Amino acid sequence: MTTVAGRRSPRSYSLLKRLTLAFSAAAIVVFALTGAFLYNALSTELQRRDDIEITGKLSQFLQLARDAGSTRALRDNPSVFHEVLLSHPGVYLAIFDRQGTLLLQHSDEPSANLWLAPAAHRANEPYTCGPAGIGPSRCVFADETLPSGESVHVLLVRAAAERQSLLESYRIDIWLAVAVGAALVGALGYAVARRGFSPVKSIGRQTSRIEAHNLSERLDIQGGPIELQDIAFSVNRMLDRLERAFVRLSQFSSDLAHDMRTPLANVISSSQITLSRPRTTDEYEALIDSNIEECERLQRMIESMLFLARTDNAQQHIKMVELDAESELRRLASYFQGLAEEAGVHFVVQGNARLFADATLLRRAVSNLISNALDHAFAGTAVELSLYDSPKYVAIEVANHGPAIPQEHADRIFERFYRVDAARHGSARNAGLGLAIVKSIMELHRGKVDVASSADRTTFTLYFRREIAV
Ligand SMILES: Nc1ncnc2c1ncn2[C@@H]1O[C@H](COP(=O)(O)OP(=O)(O)OP(=O)(O)O)[C@@H](O)[C@H]1O
Ligand SMILES: [Mg+2]
Repeated sequence: MTTVAGRRSPRSYSLLKRLTLAFSAAAIVVFALTGAFLYNALSTELQRRDDIEITGKLSQFLQLARDAGSTRALRDNPSVFHEVLLSHPGVYLAIFDRQGTLLLQHSDEPSANLWLAPAAHRANEPYTCGPAGIGPSRCVFADETLPSGESVHVLLVRAAAERQSLLESYRIDIWLAVAVGAALVGALGYAVARRGFSPVKSIGRQTSRIEAHNLSERLDIQGGPIELQDIAFSVNRMLDRLERAFVRLSQFSSDLAHDMRTPLANVISSSQITLSRPRTTDEYEALIDSNIEECERLQRMIESMLFLARTDNAQQHIKMVELDAESELRRLASYFQGLAEEAGVHFVVQGNARLFADATLLRRAVSNLISNALDHAFAGTAVELSLYDSPKYVAIEVANHGPAIPQEHADRIFERFYRVDAARHGSARNAGLGLAIVKSIMELHRGKVDVASSADRTTFTLYFRREIAV
């Protein structure tokens, strides 16, 4: 993660490293579980084979004991038993008489009578045992009555040492496979993730190339993953907005510079001309008067600019109150009475409604519209201030009879510094910010402003929402 200052934050981490570690950890878990399962299966299978071996041998020895006929014959001729076991290393035999005396034993271990099976075990069923001198084993026993009437107890033991050493080496192999497998999966995961992240890096490279002078460039990750294409699409849309705002801002600052230059140039040139030779007091007074007028114009412009800048940054806190719109319009009409008489027009106020708005901003918006209406009204006509109520909006209309606004200009007159005819009378006084301010005010109220202009009548309408929430 990179901070605003361009440095990595102390808590940043590499997704690539995390993924590699996650892949390896997952591989260790999966391989270890699989290894444990296989180990168990092998251990069970080996034990089963040992059991089959000793139960098979047990029945063979029981048969041999029966064939011998008596315990004495058994003791006298043990070789037949030993021969059977020669080809079965690790398998031991002990035969006891009814009293538990050892009759025959195939083992190097002298203490074979300790092998006698505990009473808990059942005949012919292999069990885990650990005879002295042999260690962990599987045992099986059976009792048999010989033709002589004597009974014998035959015990077979299969030492687990061989099985355990096999399992031991298998266990080592499994751990080795787990380690190598995890390393391999980690390496492969790293390679795959690195490849997967290459479009991300490409986005990073492309965005870092975009600066103010090439804001028209767009991210291109054709063929990249869909998720990143979505991100690139969003970034591109953000760039569209930034580019539009940037163009507007550039236009705005050049218009601003242009509009401030005119009054300043007037002040400078008229001052220089006046000072070029001695003048009468009246001439100096006239110069100062005209300079004050230009400065006032500049002041108005700067004040409007500040107002717009504040509304742009949403720093303007608006205070919504319920207003009697009719009395507000009447008050504004009387405020503009003097100018109206100068222009030879009169006001007509009609309708009544209550609305929620910021009183100062509402007055400012309507004043801007009235001032425009007075500028453009034909002498002898009426400027109509009307109120309309609808379920959703309360509308304030300011209409005047005057030259129509051509359609191609109607959409643009709300832009800053836009004037339909900059050369027309009075445009030197006007900055072209009045309607931009009206629009900002209406946006602050989450309402809107509209214009309709026909042959000789122009109507501006302010729509205020009925809900109070702003
Ligand atoms: N009632 C109207 N009738 C005809 N044209 C209008 C009317 N109101 C506005 N306009 C046109 O829209 C343009 C923009 O109006 P706006 O109020 O923004 O600027 P301005 O009046 O020229 O300057 P400012 O209001 O900043 O002193 C005006 O220059 C004018 O050409
Ligand atoms: Mg205006």
